[in-house]
Formats: sequence, C-alpha cells, structure tokens
Amino acid sequence: MSEQNLLNEVAGFREAWQVKEALEKSGTDFYEVKGEVASTVVQLHPKRLKLEVAKVLEETPTTKTLRLVAADRSALPPFQAGQYINLFTEINGVSTARPYAISSSPSQRVYYDLTVKRAKDGFVSNYLLDRVAVGQHFLSSGPMGTFHHNPLFHGEDLVFLAGGSGGAPARSILLDILDRGLPHRFHLIYVNSYIDDVIFDEEFRGLAMRHESFSLSEVISRPPTGYQGYTGRLTQAVLEQLLDKIGDKMFYVCGPTPFNDSCVELLTALGVKRRRIRVEANGAPKAPNEQKGWPEGVSLDDEVTVTVRGRGSFRSRVGEPLLNALERNGYGTENACRSGECSLCRVKLVSGAVFNPQEAHLRKSDRDFGWIYSCVAFPTGDIEIQL
Ligand code: FES
Repeated sequence: MSEQNLLNEVAGFREAWQVKEALEKSGTDFYEVKGEVASTVVQLHPKRLKLEVAKVLEETPTTKTLRLVAADRSALPPFQAGQYINLFTEINGVSTARPYAISSSPSQRVYYDLTVKRAKDGFVSNYLLDRVAVGQHFLSSGPMGTFHHNPLFHGEDLVFLAGGSGGAPARSILLDILDRGLPHRFHLIYVNSYIDDVIFDEEFRGLAMRHESFSLSEVISRPPTGYQGYTGRLTQAVLEQLLDKIGDKMFYVCGPTPFNDSCVELLTALGVKRRRIRVEANGAPKAPNEQKGWPEGVSLDDEVTVTVRGRGSFRSRVGEPLLNALERNGYGTENACRSGECSLCRVKLVSGAVFNPQEAHLRKSDRDFGWIYSCVAFPTGDIEIQL
C-alpha cells in the first residue's frame, strides 16, 4: 500500500487533509497562523509588563493602592480575579521583586490596582509606601497564580476568609462577580487587628448595602472600647454563627500564614472538604525554626557562608530566605510567587544543607536531584549552590 493510501486509512486524516486544502485555497498560510497564535499568546501572557504609576490612593494609615497603567497606554493583559503580578524593583542598588495580588476588577483592563500594606521591616513595602510617586515606572511579570475565582467550577456559594492584605484579592473577586452580574453569592469574613487596618472598609460596606448577594462580616482582634461587632480571634464558634450551613460552599483563604493555617484547621473541623478550601500562599515563613524538622542547635541569627559556584561567596543570616540573600548580594534569579509554589527560583544545591519549610512545594524530581526553591530555603550551614 502506498504511503498516501495508508494515511487515508487513518481515522480523521481525510477530514484534516480537506481542511488543509481549503485553508490553502483561501490563501491562509499555516506559518502565518502559527505566528499569529504565538503573538496572541505573548499579548495575553506576556513575560514582562512595563507599567507606570497613574495614581497613589491612601487606603488606611498603613496601606496604599498603587494604580498602574501600561506605560504605552495599551490595554493590560486579562487576568483571573485573585491573581497577582510580580513587581520588580531596585532599592538601594538591590534588584528584587514582590508578588502583589491585583485588587481591581478584571472587567476593565485600563489599570491594575496593587494594594500594598506595610510589613514589619518590609524592605519593599516600605519603599512602595514611602518613596513611590505618580509617573514612576516599573517592570512586572504578567498576571499569574492559581489562587483565583473560577466561575465555572467553584459553584455559586463563595466564602472568602481574609486577613489584613487578603482584602485585596477578595475585592477583585467581589468586583468581578458584581461587574459581570454573575449569580454567585459572596460572603466576605474580614479579620483585622485594629479597626483602622480595615482596607476598603467603606467600599465593602456600601456594596453590601446595595447588593443582596454580597454579605460582609468583620472581626476585629483588638477592638476599641465599646466596639459592637465580632472581636478576638476567628474561632469555630464565630464561624458557626456566620455560616448557616456548609453545603457546597467554596472557601478562599488569604492572609498571613498563621491566619491561613488556622482557617484551614477551623474549616476542616467544621467538615469542609480540603478540595473546597483554596489558600493563597504568603511568602517565606517568618519563623521556620518553629516548624517540624528544624535542626537542633541552629539559630536564625547564626551566620553561614553561601558560595555561588564559579562566581563568588557571601555571608548570610540563617533566618534570611536564600533568594533575598542572593539578591542582596547581586545574584539575581528568576522568581514570581516567592512562596515556594511556582518553582521559578530553583537553584541547585551542590553541597551543604538547607531547611525546606512546609511552604516549599518541591517536586519529587527536584528533591531527588538536589534542586531547592531559593525563595523559601534557609541555609542551616555553609552551602555551595549553582545558579
Ligand atoms: S519564586 Fe516561586 S517557588 Fe520561589
């Protein structure tokens, strides 16, 4: 049998061949189509965006929103509500980056709002809050991250447990639902230490008054005297009061890591299946030494030598995530989530040991071949790595 006859016997081959001939007749060039697809992908999922600060909005005494537009004023790439961009910056000669959830609605692509809360000793947050002005330019990654609302698969009954800056992705999801007139119910349980910390307070309250599908419950851990709402920690008893029944609810959790852990524990105790709880990662742990497996006798303030094979070495504190130490010493590596999830910051551990906290979602092959995620790796002795 000839090659052509043989191919004609393959299921679907004739139909595919007819489509090819029709495309050729109509003047469509396969290579051109391929190029168009590639350029569409680049527009929708760009590696880097050039952004400009169009506005700086004061939210609370410790929080501002940077409204960023495309430097060339083109439409920004689409994103899914809840996703983040990684904002690259240079501070005092150190090139670094931080992921920030987009707090604006994906329904418009003129700007991304990044809502930045001051972190204690926050190298980048202090810079963004104190030194950034309208007109300043930044590079960022495109929108990314798996913590987002999926209107098709997450059901229509949504509960968002937010702590502090977790209000940012919550706002994006809420606005997305309202802007698109989706039939979802959205209950935001928003926990803050102080009443002055509540971001988007007026906006959330106004939206809750105007939209039956949105309900807001605030919990203030350290309330002023006479405060009437929920106070203290978010407990199982409070959650039971706030959630009439669990049903098919989808839960989103975003806040500081201890808050996230505690929410997952509480929801699990209430019978929520783990697959109905979506948790946003939140950076390297502040106290890795409190996690299981931390080597005895090693202190966060100990100093170690990090050698970058073929390039040089520097001293670093055990408690400083390796990626931060590398950047501080002029060794950049690709990164995005800075939370142990995306694997972009992988470096090869040639010798020595690092502590991989529970945040490091290393693949088995990474572990087997000595790769570590530098954003959440803590050298517990002298190490040599390869970039
Ligand atoms: S930057 Fe994503 S795993 Fe390190």
